[in-house]
This record gives sequence, C-alpha cells and structure tokens, in this order.
Amino acid sequence: MNKIEQVFDKLWQQYTEESPEALKIYNLFKENGEDNIVNDHVAFRTFDDPRVDVDTLGKFFIELGYEEKGDYHFPVKKLYAKHYEHKSDATMPKVFISHLLTKEFSALVQEQAKACVDQIATSELNSIGLLSSGVHWDLDYDVYQKLLAESEYAAWMYVFGFRANHFTVFVNHLKTFKSVEEINQFLKAKGLTLNSSGGEIKGTPAELLEQSSTMANKVPVKFRQGTFEVLNSYYEFARRYPDASGKLYTGFIAASADKIFESTNVGTK
Ligand code: NI
Repeated sequence: MNKIEQVFDKLWQQYTEESPEALKIYNLFKENGEDNIVNDHVAFRTFDDPRVDVDTLGKFFIELGYEEKGDYHFPVKKLYAKHYEHKSDATMPKVFISHLLTKEFSALVQEQAKACVDQIATSELNSIGLLSSGVHWDLDYDVYQKLLAESEYAAWMYVFGFRANHFTVFVNHLKTFKSVEEINQFLKAKGLTLNSSGGEIKGTPAELLEQSSTMANKVPVKFRQGTFEVLNSYYEFARRYPDASGKLYTGFIAASADKIFESTNVGTK
C-alpha cells in the first residue's frame, strides 16, 4: 500500500467502525457480486479557523499528489468547500473539504470553534494524522445543543471532529447496479433509509452528476453529562456522466451537495 492508500485505508477503518451501517452496505454490495467498490470521493468537514480550514486540510492532499479543482459556496448553510483530484492517478478518490463560516454565526459558535482548535497540539495540526484524529476536546451536551440550534454542521463537527464525514461509492464502476435508482431500490428493500431532501436522487444526467445517500445513523456518544445518541455519518452513491468532450464530469453541484449535507439533519429522521 502506498502512502495515499494508507491514509484512505485508515480513514475507511475509522469511518466503518464509527458508522457500522456503511460497512453493512459495503458488505451487501459485496454479497451482491461487487468485488471492486471504487470511491468517487471522500468528504471532510472542518471550521474556518486558519489552523484547520479547507486550505490547511487540502495541503495534506496536495502533498500526496492532489490538486485543487473547484470551489463551492453554500450561502444558506454558511459553508465554503473545495474539491481536489489526484494529478495522475484517476483511481484515487476525489477529496471534498468544506468548512463552516463561523464568523457568520453567533459569538457562541465562534468561541466554541476557536476553543476546540485551541485544544489541538501544534504537532498534530501539522500532521496528516489530523485528518483522522477525531475530537481533541471534552464534550458538553449543553454546548452541543446550543450549536445544534444554530448549525447542524457545527454540532456534528463539535461531536465528531476530524475524520471522514462520508465515503461515496462510484456507481459507474459497479457491475451489478446500473443506476442510482437501482441502488436506492436495493437499499430500501434491505430496510435502509435514504435522504429524501430534494428527492432521493440529487442532480440529473443533464447536470452530469446524480447522487443519493442514506440517512445518518444514531450512535452513542459520551458527554460530560452522560451518554447520548447523536447522528453521525451516511454513505453516498454517485454516478457521473460524460461532458460534451466525452470526458466524465469530475466536479460537484452545489445545489445537490447542499441537500446531501442534510443527511445528518436531526429533524429529518
Ligand atoms: Ni459527498
């Protein structure tokens, strides 16, 4: 395994340990005959603090041979994102990193984000291990609820910290499923719940990208006050279409990503 594969492998181990439903779906695909499940992209969340913002996390991937490809604005959720692609190895997943625009929120959100980042040791800030380092701070349930009242994303980041938010199956590489619709039917038949915000399939062939995702599962999380159930991560599925030049589209559609973010919304499940 080369260095990049090791990084993604570690993130995958952590993701499937903390989100057992993703592993369950991965195994259902395998049982269905999928022996080579390719990731379209891996997504990360962070704060806009310059010590950990999009560019800071993106730098780790640039050092691994990635380059910046596009940027995206989410004015309603107050997020900003960039996507990165490997320069020479098209089998490597794309990387999608978003950060919360904390300055557009209350003083509480700004102070909590800063307090969280203040807890991270300098040596960890400069290491690629930061990407899977989880939380560096004690969790307080009252703070969690206050953050949740302002931003679901802020609350998620507070509870789960640095890890992959989700992995995404690259539907084009599957043998037994020809469409996102087929995957959705398969998952629903297995009793899984899909994110239906904006419809189960986000995007259209004309937009060159169709996506769907499961709803995040609740997992027990230890807070200062005791253990509470919190929604963690979802699994995503993406099918890409060729552009006018015949090349598969590799970007993201902000309007669709906006709805995918809602897979961790507390109120929708
Ligand atoms: Ni995604």
